[in-house]
Order: sequence, then C-alpha cells, then structure tokens
Amino acid sequence: MSLFRKAKPERILPQHVAIIMDGNGRWAKKRHLPRTAGHAAGSKTFKDIARYANKIGIKYMTVYAFSTENWKRPKEEVDNIMGILRQYLKDTDQFKEENIKLQFIGGRDRLPEDIQELMAKAEDDSKDFTGMHLNIAVNYGGRDEIVTAVKKIIEAGTPAEEVTDELISQNLYTAGQPDPDFIIRPSGEYRLSNYLIWQSAYAEFWFSDVLWPEFGPRHLEEALDSFSERNRRFGGV
Ligand code: FPP
Repeated sequence: MSLFRKAKPERILPQHVAIIMDGNGRWAKKRHLPRTAGHAAGSKTFKDIARYANKIGIKYMTVYAFSTENWKRPKEEVDNIMGILRQYLKDTDQFKEENIKLQFIGGRDRLPEDIQELMAKAEDDSKDFTGMHLNIAVNYGGRDEIVTAVKKIIEAGTPAEEVTDELISQNLYTAGQPDPDFIIRPSGEYRLSNYLIWQSAYAEFWFSDVLWPEFGPRHLEEALDSFSERNRRFGGV
C-alpha cells in the first residue's frame, strides 16, 4: 500500500440551494389519503430538510411553498396550505432554536392579513440570526417578480441607460443574496415552473423521482455530492 494516502477532496457546497417541493398530492394519492395529508407530510419534510441543511452549513435555501398559479386549486386545499403556514409561523421557538433567518418572497397583499403579520414578525424576530438564510416563496411567481422589479425601476425614474442586470437583481425579492447555484426538483418533473427564473440563469439542476414527503437527508446528500462533482475542476480552471 502506498505510504501516501490520497487526500479526500473537500466537498464543494452550493451557496444557495433552491427546492421545488413537489409530489405531495401524488404521495397522498398512493396512500388513498386526501391531498391535504400530502401537504402535512410535505411540511414535515420541509422542516427536517431546512434543519439538516442549516446543520451542514448551507448558507441560503429557498423553498417553493405556494405559487401565483396555486390559487387555481380548490379552496379547501388553498386554505389547508395557508393553515400549515400559519401554524409554522406561530411556532416561533423553532426559529430561535435553529438560528435560521427567515424571509418570505412573493406578493403578500393577497394573503390573509394575519399571515402577513406573522410573516413580518417572523422576519423581524429572526433578522439577527446567523444561521442559514431561509426564503419561503409564498404567492411567488418568477415573471411576477420581474414585472414588479421593472415597475419599481420605472417608478424611481431610472433612465434607460442605467438599467442593468445588477439593477434588476437588486430589485427582486432576493436582493442582496447570491443567486441560487443549485436547484432541486423531486417527483419526476423536469420543469422550472416559474421559479426563480431570473436568478437561476447559471444554476445547476438536480432531478429525482422521489416524492417530496419521502425526500430525506440522504437525498439531499446525494444531490450535494452530485453538485460537488460537477464543480470539481480536478486542478484545471
Ligand atoms: C406541490 O405538490 C406542493 C405544493 C403546491 C405545496 C407545498 C407546500 C408545503 C410542502 C407546505 C409548506 C409549508 C411551509 C411551512 C413552508 P403538489 O401538490 O403539486 O403535488 P402533486 O404534483 O403530486 O399533485
């Protein structure tokens, strides 16, 4: 055996992981359960994955909880997802324990007022936390985000020659954050579904057939290993 053991290369972690939490409905259907049971299970997965990602040192994570298109779902289902979100926001101790900094991205005006207030409070309470920065996308759509940014730029009276990539980025919900460099979509779908469409210009993607409620730390690990492999330049440039 060689005396020189090859050093294990350091794993390269993405700076910002974005996840499309898809497959809750199919997971429930497979078990002859209502779709709401799928969202409840998906919410548990979300909490476990956020906790795990924070523990292993991921700095930014964004999850897609509710899209601008999701209002088309039956009222009962929409109310159920809002209820899960409300409960999550009321359980404030968990933010403190985990040191996770929370931010909500998406249009808030259409959300129930008490949820808007709870969101503002959770953001304020966690603003000095130094752990992972967790964005939760609620009533979020990538095109809507870009339109909102462009309106802000025009309303500020910006001359056309001053409109740059950078200026648009600074006017998105994710202003000041690194762009997501890794996007994970489980459940066998291969679409971006209007998610972070500006920010994902250079992102790597990872897809899997596993349904979101079954997504565990081992799947995240597998995805992160794949990201690291893709980014290892083997001494090259
Ligand atoms: C997509 O699966 C999932 C959603 C639209 C809702 C996701 C919401 C949660 C996981 C709860 C979030 C809670 C917090 C606290 C952030 P789908 O219903 O479209 O699944 P399907 O494609 O199998 O029907």
